[in-house]
Amino acid sequence: MIISGNIKETRNQIKEWKRHGLSVGFVPTMGYLHEGHKSLMEAAKRENDKVAVSIFVNPIQFGPNEDFASYPRDLEKDAALCESVGVDLIFHPEAEEMYAEDFSTYVDMNGLTKELCGKSRPTHFRGVQTVVSKLFHILPADRAYFGQKDAQQLAVIKKMVRDMSMDIEIVGCPIIREADGLAKSSRNTYLNAEERAAALVLSRSLAEGKKLVESGERDVSKIKKCIEAVITGEKLARIDYVEIVDFADITPIENLDAAKTGEILCAIAVYIGKTRLIDNFICKYR
Ligand code: PAJ
Repeated sequence: MIISGNIKETRNQIKEWKRHGLSVGFVPTMGYLHEGHKSLMEAAKRENDKVAVSIFVNPIQFGPNEDFASYPRDLEKDAALCESVGVDLIFHPEAEEMYAEDFSTYVDMNGLTKELCGKSRPTHFRGVQTVVSKLFHILPADRAYFGQKDAQQLAVIKKMVRDMSMDIEIVGCPIIREADGLAKSSRNTYLNAEERAAALVLSRSLAEGKKLVESGERDVSKIKKCIEAVITGEKLARIDYVEIVDFADITPIENLDAAKTGEILCAIAVYIGKTRLIDNFICKYR
C-alpha cells in the first residue's frame, strides 16, 4: 500500500493505473476511520480494480468555533484498517500541500447548501466542495464513495459533479450503526459514558418519526413534532434542527406528498453536551 502526501506523485500513480486500463475507486475521508468508512472502502474494492483513500482533516470546512484542532487523528491505526481492506493508496497531505499561502479559489453552490447543516454551518459546504473538487483533480478516479450518514453532503457532491460536468460517478452508501443504533462517527469519541447513552436519542427519535410516516402520516409538522418530543425528553440533548425536505433538491416541504420524486430526507442535528451529532433517514414511499 502506497502512502503519499504529495499531489504530483499521487496523481501520477492514479493516471498510471488508468493507463493500464484499471478502474479506480476513491473514498475521501478525514480519518479516524471506523466501520462506516470501512463499508465505503469495501464497496469501492468490490466495484473497482484499485482503491484510493484520502485522509485529510480539511481546515476550510470547519467554522471558527468548531472542532478543527481537537478533531481526532490516528494515521497509524487508519493505515492498518486500510491495509486490512486491501486499499492500494492513501493520500495524506499536509495542509500546506493542499492550500498554498495565496490560495483563493472556492467552489460554492446556491440553494441546496443553505438548508439544514448550512444554516448553522454557513461556510461548511463551500469548504467541502472546494476540497472534494481538489481531491477529484488530484485523484482522477472512476467512482467516488460517500455515506448517506452525511445525506446533505452526498446531495451537494452529486449536484456539484452534475453542475460542473465532472467526469466521476458518485456512489452513495448506507449508514453504518453501532449495535444499539447510534450512527458511527469519528465525533462519537468526544462523548463520555453518560453522553454516549444520551446520544441514542437521535436514532430513537428518527425511528419514531419513521413509524409515523409508515403509518400513513403525511403532515410534516406532525412528524417533526413527534421527533422533537422524543429528543426534548433527553436532558443532555439540545436540538440544532429537525427538518424534513424533498431529497431531490433539499427544499422544505409541508406535506410528504409534495416531494417531487417521492423521496424525502428527514435529517436531524442534535447537541449532546458540547458534541454536535447528525443522523437521518431517507424514505421513498411512492
Ligand atoms: P468523514 O466525516 O471522515 O466521512 C468520510 C465519508 O464517510 C463520508 O462520505 C461520510 O458520509 C462517510 N461516513 C461517515 N460515517 C458513516 C457511517 N456511519 N456510515 C456510512 N458512511 C459514513 O465527510 C467527510 O469526512 C468530509 O466532509 C470529506 C467528504 C472527506 C471532505 O473533507
